[in-house]
Amino acid sequence: MKLIISNHKMNFTLEEIKIYVEQLETVQSKNNLLVFCPSFLYLPYFKGKNYSLGSQNVASQKMGALTGEVSVEQLKSSGVSYVIIGHSERRNLLKEDKDSIQKKISLCLENEITPILCIGEQLEEKNQKEKVLQEEIDSAFQEGQALDEIIIAYEPIWSIGTGIIPSKEDITSTFEWIKSYVKETYHANCKVIYGGSVNEENIRLLNQIQIIDGYLLGGASLEIEKLREIIKVVEG
Ligand code: PGA
Repeated sequence: MKLIISNHKMNFTLEEIKIYVEQLETVQSKNNLLVFCPSFLYLPYFKGKNYSLGSQNVASQKMGALTGEVSVEQLKSSGVSYVIIGHSERRNLLKEDKDSIQKKISLCLENEITPILCIGEQLEEKNQKEKVLQEEIDSAFQEGQALDEIIIAYEPIWSIGTGIIPSKEDITSTFEWIKSYVKETYHANCKVIYGGSVNEENIRLLNQIQIIDGYLLGGASLEIEKLREIIKVVEG
């Protein structure tokens, strides 16, 4: 079973999302787990039985006075079971720091919500990729937590939204490194998924890489037909 997680980012108007949700009724996967992470606003519209619900962020504080934020309990009570944490857009554009990423992960784990921790290097960091990934893992993981529950999304930042993906060999060696680092350092077996320009064409190549536990889709998840094709290829 592979995970196919759709991150809608800040896309769709209310009218558009209603149509999207309607079309989703016709999208199914026998062997894979589909997760949709729409805008917070649209969570109540996603009530399908053939997929799970995720969000793109969560507040780093449990409850109370934090204007504009959405708490883990609010998400849980809205049917959310996955949360994307530390996406590069939030780290870089919205200045999300390591401390709040760590707090968000803890809150999710305490509330039995699966955190999807995004890690990845910038183009100019390619030759020190492992150092960057190690720092992002170390600053997010805490000993004593249910670390096996965390999903790591490896997303090279230079690949997001560019149409360019790393080579098969590159992805394989990076995934091997992540899995063995997490195993040796934290004794955890985390699922690791790939994100960055996954589309209905390159999915054929990506799907040949056994070590990948799933995909985090951005742009391709916005069009039902592209999503359907991706699911079909992963389904085999
Ligand atoms: P993309 O986005 O598929 O549009 O590159 C992926 C992501 O940001 O998670």
